Amino acid sequence: MALIRLDKFISERTEYTRSQIKQLAAKGQISLNGSAEKKTDTKIDPETASVTVCGKDISAQRHRYILLNKPQGYVSSTEDTDGPSVLELIPPELRTKGMFPAGRLDKDTTGALLITDDGELAHRMLSPKSHIPKIYIVKLARPYENKYVDIFKKGIKLANGEACLPARVRSMENSEKLALIELHEGKYHQVKRMFAAVGNHVQKLMRISLGGLILPEKLGLGQSMELLHKDVENLFKEPPEDLFFADFSDFFSAILINN
Ligand code: URA
Repeated sequence: MALIRLDKFISERTEYTRSQIKQLAAKGQISLNGSAEKKTDTKIDPETASVTVCGKDISAQRHRYILLNKPQGYVSSTEDTDGPSVLELIPPELRTKGMFPAGRLDKDTTGALLITDDGELAHRMLSPKSHIPKIYIVKLARPYENKYVDIFKKGIKLANGEACLPARVRSMENSEKLALIELHEGKYHQVKRMFAAVGNHVQKLMRISLGGLILPEKLGLGQSMELLHKDVENLFKEPPEDLFFADFSDFFSAILINN
């Protein structure tokens, strides 16, 4: 495992800035492997170092969280079953043993997918009780109809009789065949089945947010980035209310249409 600076290690796991970390170290409030460490540029092995800040052991947080902008053609599983696994897209320096996709996007769906080795967090996130909001942008085969708003708001019944939780849907400014939908659950092929139940058909689908975690525009399809431990908590926060009504016409619709 590559060595990293002590202040980088601490800033990724806490709310302290590098200058605050320097001050804490000068006051003897940071310890490395049992003794006070005053130099914040000391290189440590993040896998084995024991670090405490103000008496709190922060080294136990060893899990990794990667946000992937999944392209089409990859499967959300750890093995290459029906195509290459999304894990193949994660650069080796970000990959750890035991990583898996926390959740599922269809092979032809693109967008935000969390990859982690933290089983507990994945369980918390995927539990039917969690209701983390997820926003998708959808390209439909037929024009969007305003009646979808009320039908989805009431909780639509799928073709097999399964009932969905209430969901928000809206059209997009730039095309009559583009829509945005927000779900609070994750049934198998749910978005596709919901639009099928109102007589439409999903041609393309991209997930743009998971809870309060929004796919950054700088993260191209197939790219991944490590999330800071403190950012992972955004998963369990509501996205900003205006996200659902934000103008995605330029950015995400272009990606959806062109890929
Ligand atoms: N709903 C779908 O239909 N497919 C996905 O990949 C995600 C949500």
